[in-house]
Amino acid sequence: MNESWSNLHINQQRFQDDFAELCLIGKSGERGLSRTAFSDAHQAARAWFQQKARQAGLEVKVDAAGNHSARLECAKPDAPTLLLGSHLDSVPNGGRYDGALGVLAALEVLRCVKEHRLQLPVHLEAIDFTDEEGFLVSFLGSFAFSGKLTAQDMANPRGDRQLLEHSLQQAGLTEQGVLSAKRDPASLAGYLELHVEQGPLLEKEGVSIGVVTHISGISFYRLSYHGKAGHAGTIDMEVRRDASQGASAFTLAARQIVLEQFRGCFANVGAAHYEPGLFNVIPEKAVISLEFRAAYPQQFQQLREALLQRARQEAERFQLEMEIEYLGQRLPVEMHQTMQDAVQQSAHQLGLSAVPIIARAGHDAQALADICPTGMIFIPSVAGISHSPDEHTHWEDCLNGANVLLQAALRWIVNWDKEEKSY
Ligand code: HGY
Ligand code: MN
Ligand code: MN
Repeated sequence: MNESWSNLHINQQRFQDDFAELCLIGKSGERGLSRTAFSDAHQAARAWFQQKARQAGLEVKVDAAGNHSARLECAKPDAPTLLLGSHLDSVPNGGRYDGALGVLAALEVLRCVKEHRLQLPVHLEAIDFTDEEGFLVSFLGSFAFSGKLTAQDMANPRGDRQLLEHSLQQAGLTEQGVLSAKRDPASLAGYLELHVEQGPLLEKEGVSIGVVTHISGISFYRLSYHGKAGHAGTIDMEVRRDASQGASAFTLAARQIVLEQFRGCFANVGAAHYEPGLFNVIPEKAVISLEFRAAYPQQFQQLREALLQRARQEAERFQLEMEIEYLGQRLPVEMHQTMQDAVQQSAHQLGLSAVPIIARAGHDAQALADICPTGMIFIPSVAGISHSPDEHTHWEDCLNGANVLLQAALRWIVNWDKEEKSY
């Protein structure tokens, strides 16, 4: 890589000032952030991103899935595009770094390349994907972008269907438009995403950069247990068909299954509700949300089978009927070796420690990995905390991450160009 490029750094002050500004949009409480997909705060953050892009003289575009981009075209109109990005939406009362840091770092890379008039063989695009958090539809924007979003994902979303319809309308989008938002994979050179680790490993090891090798798969179901309503004070305990018993027995069992048989995997029952939901009525219905994660395909399938089998067993045990509604999945994926190499070598060139790491959380990169060479860069999360106002990453680590993103993108482009674009 030519000398001048390898000495390039992001504009630290601008990056820091912009991040501070962005954190104010959707601020909740002292340190938190609420920017759920299509909320006013999320729309304001997207408008802010567009304004910053225009100020930098970059082209701005929004696709039919609401994905927002800033583009820096190279001299060859038919060149492919290297995408850099993440997501500006957050979970309710979440953290300031999850997603947002990656989008801003991507924008900063484009501004840097433009200011230094680098002549690249590819277009560069900083992208903010819609609803990565799945407040409505999991990875809505990136799965639409990669052509994998299905009508079923939209018809039976894990979030509220009415809110999805209303949000799309408010944002000037249509369901048909979202489902046809696929970007031609042939127009893509690759995708590289900077993200906070959202786990404890980098901090524990005292390492600055995580070179992501795999991203865990995630699958989600809605489980409904059906029993029989009755007087809470008169039906003998042994004979009542209490839906809450099946749901809560399974919830506890899911944790045991993972701890005893699937170390390194995860299961979560994030929501439960009982009907009729009264003090003195035996619940006739219990609905729980099940999400589980594994880094490797075989493990992912075996975990699914073990959990669903136990869900059914608990229904039998308490003489309950049950419905298992499959709501979708995001498959476990491997990061492209050329991207891993570019990240590793760039960290080394910047004098930063780096280790290979498996992404436990899901990411938009999961949607892109099967359509173009895809990579991820992690930086440490303090105490591994995320999806919480206590999410924090030291600013020096944020700067390191943005500089590795810049250097890894340039390094990857140079190698791609040398290899006759054969990736
Ligand atoms: O759920 C996840 O893993 C990601 O934060 N959306
Ligand atoms: Mn994220
Ligand atoms: Mn997240």
